[in-house]
Amino acid sequence: MEKLVGEIKELCKEKDAVILAHYYVDGALQEIADYVGDSYYLAKVAKKNTHKTIVFCGVTFMGESASILNPDKTVLVPAMDAVCPMALMVDPDTIAQMRAKYDDLAVVCYINSMADIKALSDVCVTSSNALKIVKSLPNKNIFFIPDGNLGRFVKETVTDKNVILNPGYCHVHTSITAEMVEKALEEHPDSEILVHPECKQDVCDIADYIGSTKEIIEHARDSKYKSFIICTETGVLHELQKVAPDKEFYFVGAKQVCPNMKKLTLEKVRDCLLNNGPVTKVPDEVREKALKPLDRMLELAM
Ligand code: 13P
Ligand code: SF4
Repeated sequence: MEKLVGEIKELCKEKDAVILAHYYVDGALQEIADYVGDSYYLAKVAKKNTHKTIVFCGVTFMGESASILNPDKTVLVPAMDAVCPMALMVDPDTIAQMRAKYDDLAVVCYINSMADIKALSDVCVTSSNALKIVKSLPNKNIFFIPDGNLGRFVKETVTDKNVILNPGYCHVHTSITAEMVEKALEEHPDSEILVHPECKQDVCDIADYIGSTKEIIEHARDSKYKSFIICTETGVLHELQKVAPDKEFYFVGAKQVCPNMKKLTLEKVRDCLLNNGPVTKVPDEVREKALKPLDRMLELAM
């Protein structure tokens, strides 16, 4: 592994490449990355970095967003088949039907979506800025796509808007049930329950804290509690153990692993640097339209 890490570091120097990694990828990849974070943080880093090449260790919509934000850079996506299924759970026809039904509609698009869908949206959000952004919109009617669970979380909190939900979901987060969480709490009393808003309603209802991956990590670090039940993907454990080495973290189910995030490996990172590909590229026409909601997110979330 040391040899592989050395090769990757050399190749990054040679190609003026920066490595971005999401908290859900394997710990070894988080270790070699220049920046590790949640979707919002990584979008900000992708926008402002000055390297010629970005290697995005995450699912494909993440690399695609980095490319939309940086058309002049080469964005390498080590695993092109690492597709987030939720990102495909809304179609252009449904958006057109909603627009026809409501004059005053804002289409709010979770960043977990592909470029063609972003291109049809008014603003993008991530789990850490969705509440702030939806509250700030002048529109009364909001079509929240594609995640029905994050949409429901927004709807429950921003009660002066008519938030229309789409039936998309994350199979990893919805595999977590309230019964599993309650059982874990019986086994580990005096734990705080930390939940990602992609979880189902009954899990969110028993949460002590709801937040994005980065927010969950920061909450665990700063909390007076010593033990936590973690309701998100297991990849966050790597950073949790770094920031809070004296604390205990418990996961509740075997399906809390995102198979697509786990398609990223050190070998694939080395190979994409060696081969200058696979590269993510969005056609100009789609890119220009998809850039607007992404830029609007970066502006409104500040
Ligand atoms: P975060 O924005 O919290 O990092 O979440 C990304 C994601 O894919 C959750 O499933
Ligand atoms: Fe998609 Fe869920 Fe995996 Fe996140 S954890 S990338 S939402 S499948």
